[in-house]
Amino acid sequence: MPENRFVGEIARTYDRGVAGMFAPEILGPTVDCLEDLAGNGPILEFAIGTGRVAIPLAARGLEITGIELSADMLTELRAKPGADSITAVEGDMATTRIPGDFSLVYLVFNTITNLTSQDEQVACFENAARHLRPGGRFVVENGIPKLRQLPTGSMATPFAVSDNYVGIDEYTDLTHRQLFRSRHFSRHADGRFGETGSPFRYVWPSELDLMARIAGMTLEHRWSGWDRSPFTGESDAAISVWQRG
Ligand SMILES: C[S@@+](CC[C@H](N)C(=O)[O-])C[C@H]1O[C@@H](n2cnc3c(N)ncnc32)[C@H](O)[C@@H]1O
Repeated sequence: MPENRFVGEIARTYDRGVAGMFAPEILGPTVDCLEDLAGNGPILEFAIGTGRVAIPLAARGLEITGIELSADMLTELRAKPGADSITAVEGDMATTRIPGDFSLVYLVFNTITNLTSQDEQVACFENAARHLRPGGRFVVENGIPKLRQLPTGSMATPFAVSDNYVGIDEYTDLTHRQLFRSRHFSRHADGRFGETGSPFRYVWPSELDLMARIAGMTLEHRWSGWDRSPFTGESDAAISVWQRG
């Protein structure tokens, strides 16, 4: 099993930490688009977390199942109103098999990068395809790697700087394994800074397409946002939709 990093206080404070991602202008188009792509369902979310997306989707009457590595995140999910209709299973999205076949499997918020090897990311695509009925869709929301922001000779780039918080992405393998580490420096009540962080594997849309092909799926759409705006060379994120043959 991959290492579970969403434990204890991190799980308890997750929703507060990503409050901006609950904003109606972000979550609304996400849920609209996924509902449309799902048809009548049923839907499977990989890495369902605390149900940020799944709960509003379930509120629209769609049948939703989720796979989640962290028992603590599932505790947060299950405590929420509207969670009772969701089946949430503790497991690894790269390997756990849920009974049934689905019209839509989705994996949002850059979480493919939590799988820190190419093998695990490929296995995740294969596992998505295994859960889809023919014609069913796999949707992945992922940021475009920010390598263009790296000044020549530098291996790190800040993504947030304020008095009480500094966030830095540090690239630790730019050649074969495509690894970086997000380092979070937060000021504690006593004024001192503490560090937390986690490793990720960055991945380009073209490599995701290859993983989809390995898993028997072909690209249907690629947008730069949930509003289906066109994907261009300047887009900082991609919403990719593949269809199982
Ligand atoms: C950034 S959060 C996203 C949660 C939710 N999908 C959302 O959009 O708010 C990443 C989640 O992925 C889960 N996760 C990481 N690796 C996983 C794996 N291999 N299988 C299942 N869940 C995983 C973490 O425990 C965490 O809940």
